[in-house]
Amino acid sequence: MKIPDDVLAVLADPRVIIAGDRVRIPFELDRPLYERVDHILRMAGGRWDRRKRVRAHVFGHQVEEFMRQAIASAEFPSRYEQGWYPSPPPVVEKLLEHAGISDQRPGLTVLEPSAGTGCIAGPAAARGAVVDVVEIDARRVEVLHRQGFARRVVHGDFLTDVHPLDYPEGFSRVVMNPPFNDAVAHVEHALGFLGDDAVLVSVMPEYVLWRSDLTTKKFRWHVEGNEGEFVPLPRDAFTPSGVTVHAVLAIVPTGHEGCTVRNHSWHRRYPKQQYELFAL
Ligand SMILES: C[S@@+](CC[C@H](N)C(=O)[O-])C[C@H]1O[C@@H](n2cnc3c(N)ncnc32)[C@H](O)[C@@H]1O
Repeated sequence: MKIPDDVLAVLADPRVIIAGDRVRIPFELDRPLYERVDHILRMAGGRWDRRKRVRAHVFGHQVEEFMRQAIASAEFPSRYEQGWYPSPPPVVEKLLEHAGISDQRPGLTVLEPSAGTGCIAGPAAARGAVVDVVEIDARRVEVLHRQGFARRVVHGDFLTDVHPLDYPEGFSRVVMNPPFNDAVAHVEHALGFLGDDAVLVSVMPEYVLWRSDLTTKKFRWHVEGNEGEFVPLPRDAFTPSGVTVHAVLAIVPTGHEGCTVRNHSWHRRYPKQQYELFAL
């Protein structure tokens, strides 16, 4: 949900106290502006606690990282708009660990194809990776440009506008937390960007472990048949982002014997036109 400019100016005021589970505005606002700020904080999941010793909007989770993201991007993931929820730092830490992205190994090439405001991509770059990002939302693209950590920022729909052969080589790592309503399609497409001896690590909805429709079943077989695995995340892993989503990490390597992942080398061998012709 978009935060209007006047409300954003209040929330970004250095006098506002954002700490623990609460946001406190220790100065007077005129009534109409106060009501607009109150409305936005409630939509973000806050509850006004009028008790004298509190007098703050109290959230059901730690709020610093959530508000940092909200202020940077001028929006927040409301209860009614679940497509964007930034990965909280402990999730990012775990994801990067499984991907083997660390300052002990600088120079890995990394793609983040649904980068949001860079919660995964930024820390990957800070560990010395060379990071390319894709993001569909113009506001978040602006935030990514502003941060300046990425080698290349593509503003577009990853599924339809971005093809593996747009990049001359495959990436050593793909790290992602795609929109959950289309997570399997995003991850399947992202596998095409992996180089040889590479790894994809993605946050995914927990349902990929048990849903019995053919697409999800095929996806599970694909991961497990390629020495991949699913690692559960704590049930409350995303509460710092203000949403309740149950998630796992999907890990898919390439380069093993009998690998059937259609990675970047596969796309080079079977360019799109040739593949479509063959499929007819
Ligand atoms: C769950 S959020 C995660 C953001 C970021 N990866 C993170 O972990 O903090 C998913 C992001 O994917 C973006 N997105 C949704 N559909 C997309 C698409 N088709 N192509 C590229 N980005 C997309 C959304 O705008 C949102 O920023």
